[in-house]
Amino acid sequence: MTTHEKGADIGVYGLGTMGSALALNFADHEFDVAVSNKEPDWIAPFIQNAGPLANRLSGHESLADFVAAIARPRNILFMIPSGAPLDAMIDAILPLLDKDDTIVDGGNADFNATRRRAEMVAETGCHFVGMGVSGGAEGARHGPSMMVGGTRQSWDQLRPMVEAIAAKFEGDPCVDHLGPDGAGHFVKTVHNGIEYADMQMIAEVYGILRDVCGQTAPEIGALFESWQTGPLSSYLIEVSAAALQTVDGDTDQPLVDVILDKAGQKGTGRWTLIEALKLGQSASAIEAAVGARGWSSEKATRQAAEPLLNAAAQTADMPDPDDLENALLAARILGHAQGFRVLSAASDEFDWQLDMARISEIWRAGCIIRSALLDDFADAFRSELPENELILAPEIRKMLEGSIGALRRVVAAAVLSGVAAPSLSASLVWYDTIRRARGTANLIQAQRDFFGAHGFERIDKVGAHHGDWNEVAKT
Ligand code: 6PG
Repeated sequence: MTTHEKGADIGVYGLGTMGSALALNFADHEFDVAVSNKEPDWIAPFIQNAGPLANRLSGHESLADFVAAIARPRNILFMIPSGAPLDAMIDAILPLLDKDDTIVDGGNADFNATRRRAEMVAETGCHFVGMGVSGGAEGARHGPSMMVGGTRQSWDQLRPMVEAIAAKFEGDPCVDHLGPDGAGHFVKTVHNGIEYADMQMIAEVYGILRDVCGQTAPEIGALFESWQTGPLSSYLIEVSAAALQTVDGDTDQPLVDVILDKAGQKGTGRWTLIEALKLGQSASAIEAAVGARGWSSEKATRQAAEPLLNAAAQTADMPDPDDLENALLAARILGHAQGFRVLSAASDEFDWQLDMARISEIWRAGCIIRSALLDDFADAFRSELPENELILAPEIRKMLEGSIGALRRVVAAAVLSGVAAPSLSASLVWYDTIRRARGTANLIQAQRDFFGAHGFERIDKVGAHHGDWNEVAKT
């Protein structure tokens, strides 16, 4: 019996960029793949263009034929827009499935919806896996990082296949089962929040070099390229360096100089913030990045404001390149640390027992935020961490000690020059908040008790107390 006769190892529904790349990746690793798509006329050209991999692919226009072509217990990967289209497909496919079949959502999904879907699918005896896939089209085709949430049984079933197609870091596959139901999609959402902060911080350093130091795009690109050999080595620095040195064929100008400064966003950064706030966290570096994308789209307002609002800027010392490199290092550490705090809060709230070291490890290759630092973070999380805080690990503290002064100087130069650096500033503000044992919330508590009798704790006595407040002078 050939593998085709016993049925495909996996079904991939949705032949957009990511779905087709993943289907080819599975086929490349000698899995037989059944494919289908909402627009049936995409199926035949996809297989025709698959070259020698075509004999591992079978195309099916009807959902029933697609399901029937997959070996049981079935693995069915949906690579379609999350939300209503996914819910409609789940409703359509469930009656065709058998007990223990697994539906995998490989898109970026709101983890709350994933939890709801997992519960609903479990009632039918099937499994629902929320799997975050990072690395863009190239990653999906040649090795993504994947964050899996679902039942242990579905993980055992999927594991050989996803480990085969995953990116490898020194041989270790960048995929793991992180927890039940929504855990994988939650981790992917926070990955994207960190991605937003990292991209924003790089853009802010670019802005300082352009608007404070007067450098050109290729000069900045060359500087970023030189950072690839140091602690900032990462995919996002690599692509930023390459992008800044790309020339526009139409104008012979640097391509970035002819791109409109309005950033798009699909929502995962915003989801990170919403969930962080619900968990009582404030991921301020990520929040600044999401906010900056929002402000970037208000181009008309910014154009109207520029001649009207004075910067009252003052002369600042030009940041030197080493300071900029170190500032970015400190801010990157702080941005990631905030992301891990959100993960940790969610892990406690939903009893997921997320393994931060393993999450760092599966982010070391394949995903968009892959960087040299993630290996250091994995080591830090494997050691005894005071208060479970990444920035209190000895090796991470050492890195911050060597770089935080630079972040302070760079943020100060940006502030004095009137150049916005929201994510760099937010990370420094968080650092300065968290490193002070005595803050200023004693006055907030006093204010709350003064006008609302909300009570406060004292430093010298247990229990809830109220103040015998002075009268406000009548005016
Ligand atoms: C990844 C990316 C990927 C996608 C982002 C873009 O990990 O491969 O994060 O999921 O590029 O969702 O998001 P925005 O359009 O919101 O920037």
